[in-house]
Amino acid sequence: MNPLQLFLAFLLVASVTVSATHAQEVQGDGLAGGKKIAMCIGCHGILGFHASFPEVYKVPKISGQGAKYLSAALTAYKRGERKHPTMRGITDALTAQDIADLAAYYSSNGVNFNLAPLAPAPTGSAKAMELVTKGGCITCHGDSFSKPMDPTYPKIAGQHPDYLYAALKAYKTTDKELIGRSHPIMGGIAKQFSNDELRELANYVGSLPGDLKTIPQSWLR
Ligand code: HEC
Ligand code: HEC
Repeated sequence: MNPLQLFLAFLLVASVTVSATHAQEVQGDGLAGGKKIAMCIGCHGILGFHASFPEVYKVPKISGQGAKYLSAALTAYKRGERKHPTMRGITDALTAQDIADLAAYYSSNGVNFNLAPLAPAPTGSAKAMELVTKGGCITCHGDSFSKPMDPTYPKIAGQHPDYLYAALKAYKTTDKELIGRSHPIMGGIAKQFSNDELRELANYVGSLPGDLKTIPQSWLR
């Protein structure tokens, strides 16, 4: 190879390496994430904190949720696939690295890794069990509703029932400016149910034991 050919070959290798790095997933750092939560704790670090839009419900528990799902959810707000205006505004300012770091932090925040894996969920009312069977919820969210078949799917056991209900209804809404979530899988599932049925499902799943928590955190530590 003459020097020019060598140089071109080098460029080619370098550009392939660069694009491979870009394609790689951003690695989250929980310690770095812990320094970025000032923007979150005003809502997610207060027990029983309520949101008032589009209806009154408790802000979701995010401590103990899976990191890949947390990243997916934050990215969905950032891209506008989830339209909740507050979370859209907040994620607008986050980089992919911030999102990965926050996800790493919250997925391990307050988690006791020595606990035995959760047993299958106790059965609920006949009506609730009929709806769970119809929706095939266990296939994806696991028989404890805390062991999703894919790490980008959420744990939902023990989440606030009023939030679960708001989230389920949101998947049915895809044509509004400020409310709704567009998700191909959950959209198809939620649309099979009336709102009363979604409330029944939310109350059952929310009553189950699970990993999710709100950990009180204040600036006055
Ligand atoms: C002003 C209150 C508020 C602040 C501040 C806030 N959130 Fe939220 N967050 C909410 C509400 C309300 C929802 C539910 C939105 C919906 O219905 O989709 C939510 C949803 C989420 C979800 C989705 C949970 C799930 O189960 O799908 C994640 C993850 C999240 N927030 C993380 C964060 C992080 C990380 C921060 C800080 C960078 C933050 N939030 C700041 C109110 C807030
Ligand atoms: C084919 C797989 C699949 C099935 C079946 C399924 N889900 Fe889901 N579910 C998902 C995925 C994937 C998400 C995450 C969607 C997103 O990122 O917004 C999700 C999200 C949710 C959420 C939102 C959680 C949150 O924290 O915001 C709720 C609530 C939920 N599912 C309840 C149910 C219920 C109840 C059933 C049964 C009636 C069910 N799902 C069946 C895959 C599934």
